[in-house]
Amino acid sequence: MNLSQRRFCNTLTKADVGNKVILAGWVDAFRDHGGLLFIHLRDRSGLVQVVFNPEQADAATCRTAESLRSEFCVAVSGMVIDRTPGTENPHLDTGTIEVMAQTLKVLADSAPPPFQISEKEMVAGSVTATREDVSEELRLQYRYLDLRRPSIRNNMIARHKIYQCARRFLDERDFVEVETPMLTMSTPEGARDYLVPSRVHPHNFYALPQSPQLFKQLLMVGGLERYFQIARCFRDEDLRPNRQPEFTQIDLEASFIDEEFIYELVEELTVRLFAVGGIELPRPFPRITYDEAIDTTGSDKPDLRFGLRFVDVTDIFSDTQYTIFRQILKRNGCIKGINVKGQSEKLSKNVLQNEYAKTIVPSFGAKGMTWMRVENGTLESNIVQFFSDTELENLKTRFAVEEGDVLLLIADASYDLVTSALGQLRLHIANRLGLIPKNSWAPAWVTSFPLFEATDEGGVSSKHHPFTAPDRTDFDPHNINDLLALKSRAYDLVMNGEELGGGSIRINDRTLQRKIFTALGLTEEETREKFGFFLRAFDFGAPPHGGLALGMDRLVAMILQLPSIREVIAFPKNRSASCPLTGAPTPVADKQLAELSLLNLGNQSRGAAAQITDSISTLSWLARIAVNSTERPLIEKAVAEADALADFAAANAGSEEPMRTVAPPAGQRRPGDTAIANSAAAAGELLKLAPATKGGYYKVAAVME
Ligand code: AMO
Repeated sequence: MNLSQRRFCNTLTKADVGNKVILAGWVDAFRDHGGLLFIHLRDRSGLVQVVFNPEQADAATCRTAESLRSEFCVAVSGMVIDRTPGTENPHLDTGTIEVMAQTLKVLADSAPPPFQISEKEMVAGSVTATREDVSEELRLQYRYLDLRRPSIRNNMIARHKIYQCARRFLDERDFVEVETPMLTMSTPEGARDYLVPSRVHPHNFYALPQSPQLFKQLLMVGGLERYFQIARCFRDEDLRPNRQPEFTQIDLEASFIDEEFIYELVEELTVRLFAVGGIELPRPFPRITYDEAIDTTGSDKPDLRFGLRFVDVTDIFSDTQYTIFRQILKRNGCIKGINVKGQSEKLSKNVLQNEYAKTIVPSFGAKGMTWMRVENGTLESNIVQFFSDTELENLKTRFAVEEGDVLLLIADASYDLVTSALGQLRLHIANRLGLIPKNSWAPAWVTSFPLFEATDEGGVSSKHHPFTAPDRTDFDPHNINDLLALKSRAYDLVMNGEELGGGSIRINDRTLQRKIFTALGLTEEETREKFGFFLRAFDFGAPPHGGLALGMDRLVAMILQLPSIREVIAFPKNRSASCPLTGAPTPVADKQLAELSLLNLGNQSRGAAAQITDSISTLSWLARIAVNSTERPLIEKAVAEADALADFAAANAGSEEPMRTVAPPAGQRRPGDTAIANSAAAAGELLKLAPATKGGYYKVAAVME
């Protein structure tokens, strides 16, 4: 069989009936009909059914066919024929035809796969093969098999198409694709660096780039004028949903431009990229300032697909008799609320008081929540009696209440706390009540960010990065209040509550750049040490420039409407930043460390004690239980004793390896306690928002997501 002449399975159509074809791929599924044997052959393009009939193929071929199992890699030659009427499979693109096999070659057999790969049932009528609930860890461990699953494979192909679309568009707009170094100096994006030790320069380290920020600016100084790169970035930061330690950006930078250039360019780019996924984005993208976003949604990446905007009611209660509000306002606090329109049936007094006011809202950091329901034209709640008629009337007018509305108010001395807690409540309520429309897209530019934020140490740090241009240059770098009042020329592209990209117009004036470093508390010497090479470039006629980076993984996941960026990354890390496939990160041999001059750093050899400390750090990190310096020696002692005991037991049992057994998990209760069945649980009410149930158990969200 000449495999170079093979056809892709999914390209076969009725027009091929009567043609002899060569196919190659994997056995997706097989059925033996006593005499007739059917397989679904899968390649990158899709599936086609192949039939082995003893009347058409020789006995040896049929015998080989009988030995086929899932995921065997095979080549088949045969004739395309029409399916017998009534046996068509409407769920296969090739469901009206099949291939009558003549020869078969097993290119490689396969061990039974650890999970089912097939996603299509052979039986006409059922679309999806019953999908096992495969744990993500197992999928990532065997990612090469997971990638054979059509859904994941299609994600990779879609990602490729999105890349090509970005490349074509940016090329059209005269952007030049340039690669910047991976082994480099630290770049200030605010996360920790991944460091790479240098063998040639003992005790010196490269940093993997957190972004190509410095280099793309240097390319502007270098006169490239318009640059882009599909750039890999590395950040050692706390993992959250939609964050990976290494991820990809569409990174771009241009000279002699302003914000409007970037808004137009990136809107057009984003619209085209979403169109690859068949999504038409609403245009033009609206703009919202950072202050307005925080003031009305409590988030700098506001989800604008639904309302529930904040209404400020602080002034209504300026003379209130209600002690809690009075105390808060005395401390210059504020009161804000949302009107959940017409939802009083779903938000009973019990839900509002016992779930939201007592549990959910405190978990968002607020001390409590005030609620009111509109019943028979009046505001009802457990505390309305403390408010004056005027206050209640003013509330009704301010929120434009109607029958069935529910008002939720949060008050606190801290504006930041009110907006943050109410922002989380806004999202919680919207999710719970299904107020977020499906298939809707709400892109927006968030602008006018503060340039700096206050640090715990009493200084400032950059909200974006220190190369972002401020809105004015006449500030005093030593005056904190002046610095905190500065706005930046930065912009973020947000969509559906997620930050897709961010960038800014940069500083191209060396004096201003130095002033910013001074504001950040860096001495001349520190500045020179960290950014000397960069600042020097600005002595040589740096053009005005600006740019942006889009988070490619987030973008692709959103276009494909997938819940996690791990679904669009070929080999992602898991939630604890390790790779279940390769086992990375792994310890390395002492020899390798010695070559890198890392073994005796600080005169610390990796003796047994150091290893115990290492494993304690790992365990405490895995268990998310912090071990402080007082506890550490005690734990080390306990671990050493347990090891000694295990060795002693092993020696006495005559076995070489210490045996460790794990006690089965069991519910623990204090003596005298009895279990009380929760009636809400019995009624299926308790966790009804859980994403899925299995075998009588609710599947609840994993720790990180
Ligand atoms: P920023 O740090 O905002 O800007 O990053 C740009 C975009 O990259 C995505 N992103 C991530 N995606 C997955 N995992 C991560 N850990 C992660 N971190 C960030 C986000 C984000 O909006 N140099 C600047 C850009 C510039 O100023 O031009 C930068 O990197 O979608």
